[in-house]
Amino acid sequence: MKAETVLAAARSARYRAYAPYSGFSVGAAILTTDGALFTGSNLENASSSVTICAERNALYSAVHAGYRNFDKIALVADNPAPVTPCGSCRQALWELAGNLEVITGNLQGDISTFSLGDLLPQPFGVSSWDNNPLKKDMVASDEEWRIAVTVYPVGYIFNDFPPSRSIPDNYKELTSQVVVNPDLQDGLYRLDEEDKINIISYLHNARGYNLKDKRSGRNDEVYGVFACRAPFRPNALALSRVDLLEVNKNVLTVRGLDLVNGTPVIDIKTVMPKKEG
Ligand code: THU
Repeated sequence: MKAETVLAAARSARYRAYAPYSGFSVGAAILTTDGALFTGSNLENASSSVTICAERNALYSAVHAGYRNFDKIALVADNPAPVTPCGSCRQALWELAGNLEVITGNLQGDISTFSLGDLLPQPFGVSSWDNNPLKKDMVASDEEWRIAVTVYPVGYIFNDFPPSRSIPDNYKELTSQVVVNPDLQDGLYRLDEEDKINIISYLHNARGYNLKDKRSGRNDEVYGVFACRAPFRPNALALSRVDLLEVNKNVLTVRGLDLVNGTPVIDIKTVMPKKEG
């Protein structure tokens, strides 16, 4: 993408500025190496130190969206000489965007171009700080990008399948009980109208997984973890479709369940109704 396009985006972003105190509106646009463009404007505050510059707004939006490789940043303000980013923005850009190109323009069309390294000589960064944990791995790992989700079981499975062994071969004929937390019993209202239900559970004994592996249910051929039903997966969730035999208060009796005794139940749902006709 051409510098003019990035500058034009910065010029438009300037109209989103909230600058009642300084009256000085700034727009910025940052371009990632794979062509995504994020904009920002300066947003001021009566408590002046809370103000954030246009450049950091654009940068933080892009980083929050998952981008860590940048090509250029443009900024536009109404000033006779194009303004360069403030010291705080230079520091923030150095850490999160590295030595990118900085293009600055005014409303008359004057343009100056710098590299961030020119604007921030002898920078302070992670390499200046010996024990910085980021030094080993300059970008956040995929693991850090994942958002933890907390779920609480709605109940537990009770049956006499041998614990920590695989379920019996004839499980389709065997019955199990799903004991739902009594506080949630009202949620079972009219479940007894169903013949089949889905039980979503957490396979609490499953440890570890391979993304690609031989799959026993698939002639020992190699399939990805998301292309099979293996219990060993990044999130050991299971979906079991069972016959519902009885609902007695907070206890369901089901047939055909493929879960061992003590398995936490995350959710209970009806199965998709068959299409009419
Ligand atoms: N400002 C920016 O948004 N970017 C800069 O590079 C310099 C300063 C803003 C912050 C504040 O709202 C106003 O301009 C005056 O300092």
